[in-house]
Amino acid sequence: ETFAKVTHRVRMLSLENAFTDEDVGDFEERVRSFLNLAPTASLDFTAEPKIDGLSLSLRYEGGVLVQAATRGDGEMGENVTDNARTIPDIPQTLVGAPDVVEVRGEVYMSHADFAALNGRQAEKGDKPFANPRNAAAGSLRQKDPSVTAARPLRFLAHGWGDVSSLPGETQFDVIKRIEHWGIPVDPRFVRLTMTADVLSHYRAIEALRADLPFDIDGVVYKVDRLDWQARLGFVAKAPRWAIAHKFPAEQAETTLDSIDIQ
Ligand code: IVH
Repeated sequence: ETFAKVTHRVRMLSLENAFTDEDVGDFEERVRSFLNLAPTASLDFTAEPKIDGLSLSLRYEGGVLVQAATRGDGEMGENVTDNARTIPDIPQTLVGAPDVVEVRGEVYMSHADFAALNGRQAEKGDKPFANPRNAAAGSLRQKDPSVTAARPLRFLAHGWGDVSSLPGETQFDVIKRIEHWGIPVDPRFVRLTMTADVLSHYRAIEALRADLPFDIDGVVYKVDRLDWQARLGFVAKAPRWAIAHKFPAEQAETTLDSIDIQ
């Protein structure tokens, strides 16, 4: 009830999941067949970590941040502009950006910041957050922006919504432009040629996962050419041109101390 509703001019979509190398091969096959590409035709993809945070759409008009909205149900989100303005990674102005551009990405909290925040919660006798994602979501949706300002939120861009003109013809080039405007992009964002490279990039990120300063739960692949993305379009709530290659659930050991039979 606290936040006004925002209708997204371009829907905020979700992603289909791939769990195995075979699923990724099937995805490439579907893309090739939809585009009528010969098996030997080159087909580039971008790959980047799937950040375990919450998505946010930042609207800039005339280079000035005018609105920040959560995803909500994808059609309608919440206006959290005042809170988003307190996040240091989010610039208030962009130099050289198109007249209208919505930059989309993920708000998240690092492991170290999450641990420190929970330490402060405990000192104050407040309930700890269950995980960095919940802490980020709870921190962004505060009634008082000064509370959000005191929370260590970060932002990484991974896409865009409404734009007056696109500053590139590929996913890679547009994201690099967004980075150039001063919005952070994950340093593991790359452009690759399918299948062997993509799968080895997945293994490399999976190996890094435990050492990354924030939670990720997979690697997202997107068809690089934007004219091909447009041809591929969407099914239900997910694009045909992207997929999230998920990591297996993390496993840990625990000790069962006792069982009370009732
Ligand atoms: S692309 C049309 N890239 O995952 C494509 N999403 O399951 C839409 N997410 O709601 C998203 N990291 O909030 C994309 N590198 C990434 C992402 C990413 C995290 C989230 C995003 C989306 C959800 C979909």
